[in-house]
Amino acid sequence: MGGETVIGPAAGSEDGRTRMTAGRPGGLLAIGGTPVVRLAHLADEGCAEVWVKMEAANPTGSYKDRMALAMIEAAEADGRLRPGQLVVEYTGGSTGSSLAFVCAVKGYPLRIVSSDAFADEKIRTMRAFGADVELIPSPDGITPDLIPSMMRRAAEITAQTGAFATDQFNNTDMVDGYRRLGEELIDQLRGPPPISAFCSYVGTAGCFLGVSRALAAALPHVHRVVVEPAESAVLSGGPPGTHHIEGGGIGHRPPQLHPADYDEVVAIPEAQAFQTARQAARAEGIFSGPSTGANLAAAVSIAGRLGPGHRVVTVQVDSGLKYLTGQLYSQAPGTAGHGREVAGDGGASQVEAAARSWDCVSAGVVRRLTASAMVAARGGQGNRGREIRRLTIPCSCCHSSSAVRAASGSSGVRPRHGATPSTKCCHAFCPGIWSQGTSSPTGSGLVNVTW
Ligand SMILES: Cc1ncc(COP(=O)(O)O)c(C=O)c1O
Repeated sequence: MGGETVIGPAAGSEDGRTRMTAGRPGGLLAIGGTPVVRLAHLADEGCAEVWVKMEAANPTGSYKDRMALAMIEAAEADGRLRPGQLVVEYTGGSTGSSLAFVCAVKGYPLRIVSSDAFADEKIRTMRAFGADVELIPSPDGITPDLIPSMMRRAAEITAQTGAFATDQFNNTDMVDGYRRLGEELIDQLRGPPPISAFCSYVGTAGCFLGVSRALAAALPHVHRVVVEPAESAVLSGGPPGTHHIEGGGIGHRPPQLHPADYDEVVAIPEAQAFQTARQAARAEGIFSGPSTGANLAAAVSIAGRLGPGHRVVTVQVDSGLKYLTGQLYSQAPGTAGHGREVAGDGGASQVEAAARSWDCVSAGVVRRLTASAMVAARGGQGNRGREIRRLTIPCSCCHSSSAVRAASGSSGVRPRHGATPSTKCCHAFCPGIWSQGTSSPTGSGLVNVTW
């Protein structure tokens, strides 16, 4: 891979950060001005370049610091928020952590309504900054009713106390908080090649809207892609459902996001989002959470379609440190999802377990992958960890093996049976599964898998 693979302004530098936070007190000065890095392994030579804005470099480890600052400062400026007044918000914990940080520095008391469906690290972070946190139990995960019930409880508290409600879903100031992120990308990635596409997992859609508006102002033809969980793909026209990709998939259209704001929706299954986040940590050193995994999976898929000569940009939403006690990083090395490790049976058990967790992969494919892993094991200890097997893997949805190769992100060819990967077809998530292999240059439907 030629050319630069990381572009500042890096931490502590002037430029972006200074322009965003000049004159502000304490840790607020450290918001924004984050680096952007190019994927070196998950997107291969046949793809467009994929660049990732490293937002974990913000003070609470999340891009939400930008919007929390914007919401508070805009309310201060027009008198909606008075000195020392109570602030109230409903939040999965990312916005809450950032608001708790900003309110602590500026001296506002904060009451938060959240849920045990979200990472414990975020709840603890809000409390560490002094926020009063109330949790709504939701043992099944992020159900369609969870966010509405959190909103109702926050509205009750606001009515009882006369607090200022930041009300993130309906707050237009928070969208403005992300414009600078988009402007930084334009400064950092001047090209060639140009930024051709931007994709982002949506919750409030603030990041997507703020960044895509800034990009489109400079690059009118940029392809704007919203990302959502396949298990709750309401923007794709599907039913609301329960999932575990924190920060989005709220079960209804975010109020500030309109169909004219985007060009495409990509739905990513949560298993692929989790797997891609783990791969990004190990293969790229991009340590993040499930929503970043969804962003990366979508970006690699788009990059496969666009091919060389383009740049796809996405965002590392937040740091993997926020997810250490949850499911994402709880697997021991050598179990499913850790493709670089080879178990004692040559990888057969981990390949089987991983393949079974990809719900669109047929039983036949699982059997063949497992059998092939066993052959690899018999091939000798000396080859472990670097064996490459070439497998013919028919897509279990459309039964087109060449489409699988195309969707692997390496050939740059569109999937045969449709321009846009379907949410129900594994084309939408082949890149995440097979990204550790390189696809075969010849032979229809051949995919190289490394384990
Ligand atoms: C972890 C995480 N990822 C993604 C998002 C989505 O960001 P936005 O609300 O800007 O759409 C959020 C929002 O809460 C989040 O917490």
